[in-house]
Amino acid sequence: MLAGAAALPLFVLGRSTAAPAAGDDSLCGEPAATSRLHVPGTSGYLGRLAPRGAPLTLIAAAGDGTTPGRLVYRVRHAGRDYVNPTLVLRPGERVRVTLDNRLDAPTIAHWHGLAVDTANDGAGLTLVAPRERFAYDFEVRNRGALYWYHPHPHGATAQQTYDGLFGLIDVDDDDHAALRRALDLVPGHTELTLVLQDRRRGGYGASEQHARHGFMGDDAYVNGAPCPFVDAASRAYRLRLLNACNARTLRLAFRTAAGTRVPFTVVGNDGGLLPAPVAAREAFLAAAERLDLVLDLTAATPGETIVMESLAFDPMHGERSSGEASAEPDVAPRAAAHEGHARDGAGAAASVAGTASRIDAAAWPDGGPRALMTLRVRDRVRYDHRMPATLSRIAPLDTTGARERPVRLGFNKDRWRINDRVFAMGETPIEVARDSTEIWLLRNYHTSMPHAMHLHGFAFEVLERETSPDAVAALAVDARARLASDLGRKDTVLVWPGESVRVAIRFDVPWPGPQTYMFHCHNLEHEDGGMMLGVRVA
Ligand code: C2O
Ligand code: CU
Ligand code: CU
Repeated sequence: MLAGAAALPLFVLGRSTAAPAAGDDSLCGEPAATSRLHVPGTSGYLGRLAPRGAPLTLIAAAGDGTTPGRLVYRVRHAGRDYVNPTLVLRPGERVRVTLDNRLDAPTIAHWHGLAVDTANDGAGLTLVAPRERFAYDFEVRNRGALYWYHPHPHGATAQQTYDGLFGLIDVDDDDHAALRRALDLVPGHTELTLVLQDRRRGGYGASEQHARHGFMGDDAYVNGAPCPFVDAASRAYRLRLLNACNARTLRLAFRTAAGTRVPFTVVGNDGGLLPAPVAAREAFLAAAERLDLVLDLTAATPGETIVMESLAFDPMHGERSSGEASAEPDVAPRAAAHEGHARDGAGAAASVAGTASRIDAAAWPDGGPRALMTLRVRDRVRYDHRMPATLSRIAPLDTTGARERPVRLGFNKDRWRINDRVFAMGETPIEVARDSTEIWLLRNYHTSMPHAMHLHGFAFEVLERETSPDAVAALAVDARARLASDLGRKDTVLVWPGESVRVAIRFDVPWPGPQTYMFHCHNLEHEDGGMMLGVRVA
């Protein structure tokens, strides 16, 4: 039984805490859970499309109102129509995509997490004007994992992404096939890809674009609908999540409707399957991060409802404690967040900086609790599969003689900055020797907020965390204070105020000539505001 595997002493973390009970009708708050989860099929919205080397045309255009957001990527392939398709690829496969821009603004698509050359990275150095096309041609060099694609025109990335231009990339490999066999998982049935996005009634406007803490939506959408439900049976489910929010961090957890916490097993992250499964009760998931988990419902009884939720947490908006005044008008009501802290018992009402947290004036404040989706257990089934002890093999990087590069994250003169700089097109303040390994020490000031740092083209190996906030330190799984989702490889790492995260990066570039990549905060309003630096690898 899966429950047996998860109960191995190594995996037992923490004690059992019960969340407050809630009536079924309030599980999702408003709007209520009236829509069934959209499960991507073989066409349509988020439909799974395996091009197997065939060329595709991705049309960026206005949507037809059936999907959230004004814009969509449309593809017609092998007689089927797709909207924001999930591209299913294999390592080594050649990918040929033509982006056809039918928007009234310049755009470009970026393959988040894929190791490609600058010409194919779509980082915004080249833009596609309205009515023009751009051709990508690259090879998949990544491990199996869930990656994604989204626009990257500097200054308009947040708006276009919020408007709906994003999709998943599912690089499938033998490790994933082995996990499916071991747990009897069937994609689209017992293995679900879930795209999480917060959306605001009334949409995205200029004030959102300049919100210091980034955009905060009112409602939690999963695969295009607010707080949907899905029918389930008493067995294991694999959930593969993408946080596609512009700025919001989620503190992901599961509970029964009666309020009992339901633990889960982390099996993968941005960079694919972890070396081994790790038991967890909750996990932070920052903007652009992915989490691959297995939820064991073997003990659930028909009629029971399991809630996937984001727990309350202190969003640690501490940049004001520098004493600097701000003209920003979004000083907001704090009642909801307070209530959340009290309910969850997370405490930590004050940030490390010693200042009260500020939250944006949204119906769902940053760090506020929220139900995201429900699983309604319908059927009792026999299920006796076991979680494998090994999921994948990833050799640690050899860091002997690696250059250590300090990277400081902070706020000054009204801008979020990396090493005191803001982005300038054409400049590459970070210069790296090709085929070298570096260690980056990402340090976030106390007087800051959490930043989800992402590097194009190369994966991070998280080496250690230091001076993490208590709520984060409590989730550490090893002596280096790493989190379950830090293990293996990843491409986006959340760095909390006052925290240092040491990552190793191998800058392998099989392409001739110097290559340029972007390193930025994936809070898209921070990125558009200049919290991004060019990286030259030569
Ligand atoms: Cu999701 Cu510059 O990336
Ligand atoms: Cu990227
Ligand atoms: Cu940021």
